[in-house]
Amino acid sequence: MLKVKYSAPIRCEITVPGDKSISHRALMISALSNGSCKITNFLQGEDCLSTAKALSQLGVQIEFFPDTNLVVVQGCHGKFNMPEGDIDCGNSGTTMRLLAGVLAAQPFRSRLVGDASLSRRPMERVVQPLSLMGARLLAEGENGCPPLLIEGGSLKPITYRTPVVSAQIKSAILLAGLFTRGKTSVIEAGRSRDHTERMLQHFLVPVRREGQQISIHGPNTPESRDFNVPGDISSAAFWLVAAAAQPGSRLLIKNVGLNPTRTGIVDILVRMGAHIREVVEQTDGGEFSGTLDIKGGQLRATVIEGSDIPNAIDEIPILAVAGALAQGKTIIRDAQELRVKETDRIAAIVTNLRTMGVDVVERDDGMEIQGRRPLRGARLRSFGDHRIAMAFAIAGLFAQGETVIEDTDCIRTSYPDYEKTLARIQRGSGILRRRLPMIGMLNWRRRK
Ligand code: S3P
Repeated sequence: MLKVKYSAPIRCEITVPGDKSISHRALMISALSNGSCKITNFLQGEDCLSTAKALSQLGVQIEFFPDTNLVVVQGCHGKFNMPEGDIDCGNSGTTMRLLAGVLAAQPFRSRLVGDASLSRRPMERVVQPLSLMGARLLAEGENGCPPLLIEGGSLKPITYRTPVVSAQIKSAILLAGLFTRGKTSVIEAGRSRDHTERMLQHFLVPVRREGQQISIHGPNTPESRDFNVPGDISSAAFWLVAAAAQPGSRLLIKNVGLNPTRTGIVDILVRMGAHIREVVEQTDGGEFSGTLDIKGGQLRATVIEGSDIPNAIDEIPILAVAGALAQGKTIIRDAQELRVKETDRIAAIVTNLRTMGVDVVERDDGMEIQGRRPLRGARLRSFGDHRIAMAFAIAGLFAQGETVIEDTDCIRTSYPDYEKTLARIQRGSGILRRRLPMIGMLNWRRRK
């Protein structure tokens, strides 16, 4: 349970934990490589730990160093051991779908299971392409849901047009493509996050993008490499909105990933009138990272649709909260994928916004939110979904009276220190005050 009260403007400087998508991939690609790989700033959230446990069950040696976020993985040259018993992916769709791509190429049978939420998520989207490549997969649950039974073997290359824009489908196919002889291609209708492609290149596996088509040539073994995981912009998103929507706030978020396929949240907030500066300071392992500098103000409504969606898919809960704080009517559409995330996020957002007194209309693929009505502190459910819990704790910072979020253990899947940072931003920090004069000398510029 998490309790939040109306908060004064934020003035501080923070960092966020390592990126979840990148941490999963760093483990998997290191495990497939030909040697020892050091991963720094790894996210020790439950989802990534599910990937680590799964890989250990497959015979990969992974060493965690206490009190640091350093992990050392001994690559297995693409050859895993047959696991004993089922592999538990916990709450993590990324673990199940990406691992399916690798297991499809292993000469043994494996079975992937998950918690109640993951057991309701669609797996046909990876079963189909991996079956076309020659593996035998069966989603044993109702309507193509987990458990996922995989009978791996030798694979053939395919060219596959994905039915939904999804980095998980694309990545499962590309990882399987490492084991085929020839060119495996994925054609996407839009652009999903490209961490797999960037990381494979960093591990010296060439990946080509021609328009919407991404191709890999197999067989290939990633060359062992060290990798530093940048901060997670999806975790930064909560503080971005908390600061951008509160006049008088000033927040610096340092060492955050700024991969252009993930910064949709920044573009959308800027469109809503937010004052955000983005400074790219590092290009490390093929990923961009740097600082986000946010000055609070009054947001205005926008329409979030089409190509906005894949670029900000995990940030829609907090963008809906931003919509409730903005002047005018915010419309979110083309976001039907939200119905099959950790929970039905459209239904969860609509329920919680209404409980806080917001006028919101639910649509099949999104919602319409009438902004700037005063938010009412209330008792809200997380629906077992980390991003719903964290987004509505931020809404609580703007509400009259106390907001209580129930069932917040789920936050540990992606952001174990969320509560600590929430307490910190409410307290403020001296560091920023000392730096303000320097920042003040620069001309304030809106992004783009
Ligand atoms: C992810 C891709 C997205 C995202 C998820 C993480 C990834 O899912 O929502 O949280 O790491 O590849 P889809 O591929 O289903 O869009």
